[in-house]
Amino acid sequence: MSRIVAVINQKGGVGKTTTVVNLAAALAAVGKSALVIDLDPQGNATTGFGIDKKRGLHNSYGVLLGMVCPKEVTKKTYVQGLFIIPSTIDLSAAEVELFQQKDRDSKLKQAIANLHYDYILVDCPPGFGLININALNAAHKIIIPLQCEFYALEGLAQLFNTIQSVRDTINKNLIVSGILLTMYDRRNSLSSVVANDVRGHFKSLVFNTIIPRNVKISEASSHGKPVILYDVKSAGAIAHIELVREFLARESKND
Ligand SMILES: Nc1ncnc2c1ncn2[C@@H]1O[C@H](COP(=O)(O)OP(=O)(O)OP(=O)(O)O)[C@@H](O)[C@H]1O
Ligand SMILES: [Mg+2]
Repeated sequence: MSRIVAVINQKGGVGKTTTVVNLAAALAAVGKSALVIDLDPQGNATTGFGIDKKRGLHNSYGVLLGMVCPKEVTKKTYVQGLFIIPSTIDLSAAEVELFQQKDRDSKLKQAIANLHYDYILVDCPPGFGLININALNAAHKIIIPLQCEFYALEGLAQLFNTIQSVRDTINKNLIVSGILLTMYDRRNSLSSVVANDVRGHFKSLVFNTIIPRNVKISEASSHGKPVILYDVKSAGAIAHIELVREFLARESKND
């Protein structure tokens, strides 16, 4: 069975997609098979792997609504062992369409139940809609990226409440793998204040690895590449290699 990890934070622009693309590439680099499911109508993870967005049912929209089989729409990336189910703007209709269905919370879980990868990473859209409830229901684990900015902690209580209500109702075994501090700028004292604050509150739930603000990370995505393939010596690449080590160490502890 695949380990399903949802990368989620209802806040926009905190590094969810960047985490999915780069963690998936780093997992593949250490020999794990991985599938990225782009569940965001913006399709940033799809672009992040240089994959064309083809509208219609042949993407995560069709999978989420149970209209196509995941295998039919899975694309190879140029990273060996790493695959993606892309997304397009069509997915924005899914929230309304899901709402009309009886098993609306479990469509994704059902659709991907029989896939065989070491890891499935789900890139979640911002917000708390039904797409994200599907991701939280399907997932074994969550990674929460948190941008080292002033309002970082705001909204986190709401996210943890949502996680708890998902545990109480549809997915009692859901685990938070960790909170990941992203876009850390060591020249900005606010970054370290925020990082200390988050560690003070959440202790060991916070990954030791910190993702620095690094221009190579954003350059890489504009070239349709994970940063480890774009500039393996960059601070951004090194941080993601560290992240995969720490993530896998946490995996073996939790199992
Ligand atoms: N560590 C970093 N260093 C520099 N730029 C970064 C870093 N992480 C993310 N970015 C840039 O910040 C922007 C937002 O990141 P990203 O798209 O990963 O966030 P997101 O949480 O997925 O956003 P959304 O909620 O819109 O889906 C992107 O342009 C990305 O390239
Ligand atoms: Mg995103």
